[in-house]
Amino acid sequence: MKLTQRLEKIAHSVPEGSEPVDVGTDHCYLPVFLIEKGICSRVIATELNRGPYTRALQMIKRKKLSECIDLRLGYGLEPITPGEVDTVIISGMGGNTILEILERSPLVVNKVKTLILQPMNAVSRAREYLIKSGFKICDEMLVYEGKRFYEVIKCEHGKQKIEDEIFYEIGFVLPYKHDPMFSIFVKEKIARFKKALNGISKSGYAKAEAKRKTLKTKIQKLQEVLTWL
Ligand SMILES: C[S@@+](CC[C@H](N)C(=O)[O-])C[C@H]1O[C@@H](n2cnc3c(N)ncnc32)[C@H](O)[C@@H]1O
Repeated sequence: MKLTQRLEKIAHSVPEGSEPVDVGTDHCYLPVFLIEKGICSRVIATELNRGPYTRALQMIKRKKLSECIDLRLGYGLEPITPGEVDTVIISGMGGNTILEILERSPLVVNKVKTLILQPMNAVSRAREYLIKSGFKICDEMLVYEGKRFYEVIKCEHGKQKIEDEIFYEIGFVLPYKHDPMFSIFVKEKIARFKKALNGISKSGYAKAEAKRKTLKTKIQKLQEVLTWL
């Protein structure tokens, strides 16, 4: 099974020998890869929608992996019994959906060792939520594919030290990985925030002014980050 660069990075961050669940598995590419590469010997996959569920089922049958991949129809982690998995993978979904999935199954989340998340948006909100919910970010990866960046966050239960809120934007591990793409990632963020700033009219309304102030501070801090690199 050949994976996209994004899914391959996610797959290689799954601990060897772990017992994961891939939430929203779609074609079931990730579980098949984990089994075929010998990273895991058993994977549970969940899928909310009938169409992808049927696609995944066909893939499992074609690959003759019904003994190793347990596909379940349902919302997020709801088809999982607490303690049944030690790793949760949720990728390719909006940040708010990912957080809702975690919030709806606290008993499962409390029992897992590792979360591997790849939100398509609202990544800084996801980091803040995770940290405020008692998770520590232990690794982060940046993937550039199809003209956009994807961020993969790996975390475990623990306490995260926060020196500045700008780390919710740039990550807690990424700035120290010497990834040559990181400065481009930061510059893209600056450009996006500048565009948002220009889009806010100088109306004098308190809410708009507060937003302008937040964006200006973020831009200034991100420019400072570039000087460290
Ligand atoms: C864009 S695909 C991502 C597939 C794969 N995880 C990846 O990263 O490429 C999102 C998949 O998640 C499924 N999905 C969306 N919300 C879900 C939920 N709450 N629980 C389980 N599956 C969900 C969708 O049906 C779809 O197959």
